[in-house]
Amino acid sequence: MRIPVIIDCDPGHDDAIALLLAFASPKLDVQAVTVVAGNQTLEKTLKNTKDLLSYAGVRTRVAAGAEKPLLRELTIAPEVHGESGLEGPTLPPADFKEVEETAVELMREVLLRSEEKVVLIPTGPLTNVALLLLTYPELKDRIDYISLMGGACFGGNWTPAAEFNILVDPEAAKIVFESGIPIVMHGLDVTHRAQIYGDEIERIRSLEGQVPVMVAELLDFFSKYHVDFGFKGSPLHDPCAVAYVIDPTLFKVKPLHVDIETRGEFTTGATVVDYYNVTGRPANAKVAFDVDRERFIDMLVEALNSYERGD
Ligand code: RIB
Ligand code: CA
Repeated sequence: MRIPVIIDCDPGHDDAIALLLAFASPKLDVQAVTVVAGNQTLEKTLKNTKDLLSYAGVRTRVAAGAEKPLLRELTIAPEVHGESGLEGPTLPPADFKEVEETAVELMREVLLRSEEKVVLIPTGPLTNVALLLLTYPELKDRIDYISLMGGACFGGNWTPAAEFNILVDPEAAKIVFESGIPIVMHGLDVTHRAQIYGDEIERIRSLEGQVPVMVAELLDFFSKYHVDFGFKGSPLHDPCAVAYVIDPTLFKVKPLHVDIETRGEFTTGATVVDYYNVTGRPANAKVAFDVDRERFIDMLVEALNSYERGD
């Protein structure tokens, strides 16, 4: 039985790779892709989503979501993903359009129609997911769990205390983490261990199909920022959230209580993880701290190779 999932994303290089991983997996049934502003404006993240899926020959329903966070002005990340949000390869314009419905309406339709509970996989700011929960709270029990990329137990990558996805819309993240829906949080603690190295990028390029070569070009660009950041490789943040749903045994997680800071002068956007359970408050998330990196990379390479076999 394939697992029904919805991916909510802001492509973004690692979002793009997460999408390709998800659509290649025989274990997942991606029922919809919803798009949010984050790495770039909604106009660009939506275009990138459609162009990428079209290039990979994937057909699914794509819906546009929030253009900005619930309360704050939008923060984008051109330093990381470029002006287009998907700098590197040149992709032809998509041969399909997004659906008329909004992201929230498409998520609602999928949740109502699915016989099985659906796994949500947000890989960008949590604005769309928060709006879904605010608008249709009765749909919570149709969500099996949320496997998200965001936050960190220790440190941040956009401020010393905050990871980008949570920082862009802390109020949305607070709504999601207080929703009572089971959460698996793939924060920087694990995604910085999920790095892909130069020789593995060449392994992908050597697959020679148009999709693997395009992914290698994405990673060529994505690596530039991370080398400057002092990394040996490039952290595959968003693919972690997908890989967990495909094979949870790749990851080591701890059930912990997580709060979201929305008011701190230096700490706004922080996921405040009660690592030592000093508050005694019940866990509201499984926080990932480690990954079997080699198996994770193997899963990705196999997925990318399947686009060329036409599986
Ligand atoms: O901090 C990493 C996250 O921010 C990833 O989801 C990346 O795509 C950006 O959205
Ligand atoms: Ca993302």
